[in-house]
Amino acid sequence: MTLLDSQLEELRRATLAAFASAGSVEELEESRVGALGRKGTLAQISKEFGKLPPEDRAQLGKLLNSVKQDLETEYEQKKRRFEQTELTDRLAKEWLDVTLPAPGVHPGSLHPITQLQNEIEDLFTSLGFAVLDGPEVETEEHNFDALNIPPSHPARDMQDTFWLSNGHLLRTHTSPVQVRGMRKLGPPLRMIAPGRVFRNEEVDASHEHTFYQLEGMMIDRDVSVAHLIYFMKTLLSSIFKREVTVRLRPGYFPFVEPGFELDIHCLICDGAGCSVCKQSGWVELMPCGLVHPNVLRMSNIDPEEWNGFAFGLGLTRLAMMRYGIDDVRLLQSGDLRFLMQF
Ligand code: PHE
Repeated sequence: MTLLDSQLEELRRATLAAFASAGSVEELEESRVGALGRKGTLAQISKEFGKLPPEDRAQLGKLLNSVKQDLETEYEQKKRRFEQTELTDRLAKEWLDVTLPAPGVHPGSLHPITQLQNEIEDLFTSLGFAVLDGPEVETEEHNFDALNIPPSHPARDMQDTFWLSNGHLLRTHTSPVQVRGMRKLGPPLRMIAPGRVFRNEEVDASHEHTFYQLEGMMIDRDVSVAHLIYFMKTLLSSIFKREVTVRLRPGYFPFVEPGFELDIHCLICDGAGCSVCKQSGWVELMPCGLVHPNVLRMSNIDPEEWNGFAFGLGLTRLAMMRYGIDDVRLLQSGDLRFLMQF
């Protein structure tokens, strides 16, 4: 064994040990350059090679190649292992469950009154009713006169009106849309009109100056109270998702004759009596009635030929009942803690 032989053996041992203890790709690379690089130990030993007598060259050449081979193979393997660990580390760190809900993001939702309104619109559309819209700033004629409430009529005091300086007003109910519907579409007519209404009232837990109603009207030949009751029951069972018991009490509104207050069996206590229904077992929900002949006449409909029913659903009140909301002011507060519950 020549000196070069032992140098080569030493190079193999030392470099393999260096590869084994390398803690990073950089360290590994450093050892490789030291041993196999252009100016590395192996290159230096190779220079000596030429000086050897020919008979020694063959044997040393073999050893040289085998050392080079070993080191290169080991280097490649170790390098691949580093790359592997790097990849698994990265995958472990960047792992992501795309089905998890994003933290802190609230997707937003429709206001409870809007949800209710959409449901009722769907129902009535399926029953052949048109959904009409009317202005919130109304004329006195549409809001009062055409609904059989002339200027001197005491019924005007029933609704505290916001008057505007130009003589118009903020509509106090959605009933003026009845007038617009009759005049625009004529009989036969099936329409509903959801919307915002305004009353100049003291605000407290059960009174708001701004709230929502949903007006309904059907005009045809031979419409009776039985039709009215049928549609009201259909409406209420669809909203409350169960059969509801209703009763009609006489109620006065100048634009209907006869006029009723429709009550439902209290859904909280099933009619037994509780604080919500003030122990009566009944909750007042919806004024309604058969359209007054004067109202038809003022909108160019002949009451000898046509008649109909109308109702005014308190959307705000209904939303409060459905969701158990005990303060009407919450609905318009814009308070996210309240809204995010829907
Ligand atoms: N417009 C009436 C109100 O707001 C309610 C109503 C509508 C009554 C339709 C009868 C028929 O008080």
